[in-house]
Amino acid sequence: MDHFLYRDGVLHAEDVPLPEIAAQVGTPFYCYSVATLTRHFRLFQEALAGMDHLICYAVKANSNQAVLKLMGDLGAGVDVVSGGEYRRARAAGIPGERIVFSGVGKTREEMRLALEGGIRQFNVESEPEMAALNEVALGLGVVAPIAVRVNPDVDAQTHEKIATGKAENKFGIPIARARAVYAHAATLPGLRVVGIDVHIGSQLTALEPFEAAYAKVADLTRALRQDGHEIIRLDLGGGLGIPYERSNAAPPLPLEYGAMIRRVVGDLGCEIEIEPGRLIAGNAGILVAQAIYVKEGEGRNFLILDAAMNDLVRPAMYSAHHDIVPVIEPAPGAEQAPIDIVGPVCETGDTFAKSRMMPPVAPGDLVAFRSAGAYGAVMASEYNTRPLVPEVLVMGDHLAVIRDRPSFDEIINRDTIPEWL
Ligand code: LLP
Repeated sequence: MDHFLYRDGVLHAEDVPLPEIAAQVGTPFYCYSVATLTRHFRLFQEALAGMDHLICYAVKANSNQAVLKLMGDLGAGVDVVSGGEYRRARAAGIPGERIVFSGVGKTREEMRLALEGGIRQFNVESEPEMAALNEVALGLGVVAPIAVRVNPDVDAQTHEKIATGKAENKFGIPIARARAVYAHAATLPGLRVVGIDVHIGSQLTALEPFEAAYAKVADLTRALRQDGHEIIRLDLGGGLGIPYERSNAAPPLPLEYGAMIRRVVGDLGCEIEIEPGRLIAGNAGILVAQAIYVKEGEGRNFLILDAAMNDLVRPAMYSAHHDIVPVIEPAPGAEQAPIDIVGPVCETGDTFAKSRMMPPVAPGDLVAFRSAGAYGAVMASEYNTRPLVPEVLVMGDHLAVIRDRPSFDEIINRDTIPEWL
């Protein structure tokens, strides 16, 4: 459920008509709803109620500081994967003790930043990383809390580019080697083992792969405790999928996910962390674009928008589906026809949808891409020297631009032409 609904024939973000925002900030723009973000966060809170837990929102999904501030105010922790995300989270007021640091390639500089600024735990992904973190911590005279990310060799049954829990993926250490790695960690004085971490992929639409991974983590918890390690936390990662196509069967609900967590790891007495990103932000955001032309091709028609693959790369990168709807509600029974929906970038891959059934759209009309709040603005680029799209946040009838569209001067002046050229 989201808060982008038609009212009096016009698509609104909560209480604000989208054409009003378009008039104020121009198109294309991203728009997020506080009510939807809040609702999604609370669904996870309810799902884990009664269990000691912390929901660590995955910053990578949508890292705007206004979104991070909202999450922080709701009581969330965050999962960061770079020094940049760490800095953003801190700038948005998230305290270090609510930040977990994931990622396969943390640099010593990033480790230092987090150790000095405060950190809940590092999710360590390899033995070389463990050695580096130990050294950095000793150098600073502190002890780094760690969970080791294990790779459970489970098929997440999602798009291959976002599956992370198979043995062939670069993530985590093979679960079969976990006991040896924990034994090694225990000998390193700069580290303190606090738990186990697992994350098997993103946009999962079934609970079975999660359950298979979590069952392995539960077994490992018992084994590591027998080995004398204190396992007080389990970080179960993110990955619960969202309904991108309203016509498809809906993925499991957070409540069902939470019940499964309770059943599989609930008896271990561990504090549970989860790292949802997409489910919180995805359907809490839309991308609004304007039609530039409708072009008749050979046997097919093209709807050319002012948004492109650089603004929302998911269709080009993962062949992802986003529902695209007119901002002015089509008349009931309006005839639909297939059309290719494309952007202005000079690549055939700049295609949002092929043969999409759409009601008539004319140049100047606004359309909205649904489910664009996660992995939308954060993955945008300035390819073709197209300015990054502004972001707007709505709460009831309040509206704020939370990131401006850069000017062409700002973009062009970032380059330097060497004087010797
Ligand atoms: N934790 C870790 C360690 C992750 O790597 C990720 C996502 C998450 C949590 C959050 O997963 P979520 O709940 O959002 O599924 N750009 C891709 C998605 C990449 C996901 C990467 N890792 C897309 O647009 O589909």
